[in-house]
Amino acid sequence: MMLSIHRVQKSFGGLQALSGVSISIKGGEFVGLIGPNGSGKTTLLNCISGLYTPDSGTIRFGDQIISKLKPYQIYHLGIGRTFQISKVFNRLTVMDNLMIPALTEGRMSRKEMEKRSHSILEKLRLLAHSDSLAENLSGGQKKLLEVGMIMMTDPVFLLLDEPFGGVHPELKNQLEDYLCELHSTGKTIILVSHEMPSVLRICRRLVVLDRGWLVTDGTPDSVCSDERVIQAYLGGNHET
Ligand SMILES: Nc1ncnc2c1ncn2[C@@H]1O[C@H](COP(=O)(O)OP(=O)(O)OP(=O)(O)O)[C@@H](O)[C@H]1O
Ligand SMILES: [Mg+2]
Repeated sequence: MMLSIHRVQKSFGGLQALSGVSISIKGGEFVGLIGPNGSGKTTLLNCISGLYTPDSGTIRFGDQIISKLKPYQIYHLGIGRTFQISKVFNRLTVMDNLMIPALTEGRMSRKEMEKRSHSILEKLRLLAHSDSLAENLSGGQKKLLEVGMIMMTDPVFLLLDEPFGGVHPELKNQLEDYLCELHSTGKTIILVSHEMPSVLRICRRLVVLDRGWLVTDGTPDSVCSDERVIQAYLGGNHET
């Protein structure tokens, strides 16, 4: 297994955000993590990426237990993440935003950085904006830029929190294509999203959380016809 999440619990005061969640993910999987608002999706990504330390349970990446590591240590192992609320640097240009992760990592030559950023901006169709300040991008373009930023250091594992949030339908297709391309080049991906049409189009496996519990885990077909999911997530209005 590439990532093994074993009985992870996380509480905030009296609220159990994660109640003993276990998920194992093999290298090369493309997993959709779905569930209603407040079900614990972002909390789980925060536990994997080191922003939160689980109260109990373990998270392994390969053979290594990572659940007590700091975010920068986890990032250096090759786990990249994006945030539900974009964290691009508004006062820097699009190109400079891409340079920051590469400079932080410090392993790439200037020439490599330029080549890589050029190719990423081209794929995300942001090349024409490379010298614009990030604050001039639309909300959707900022989401694309954020995915581009984590790709600068070529992580093997991607944690994406609502990358489609506020993204224009045309850009959404572009982002879907880009994520599928990353998956086809061997990246392992956990995608958190409320955009069910996109999730169903691109994920091969769905994991459903509800109020901190893992409700079900399986193929999109099996998950969508699962009565517990229909009740918990789709409010019983979903027709399959
Ligand atoms: N830092 C925190 N302090 C207190 N409560 C928190 C904190 N982070 C998350 N929570 C609570 O934990 C629960 C799970 O939140 P989380 O953000 O993981 O849900 P989510 O599934 O990502 O929801 P959404 O779909 O709205 O993004 C919620 O009740 C939330 O209010
Ligand atoms: Mg969230």
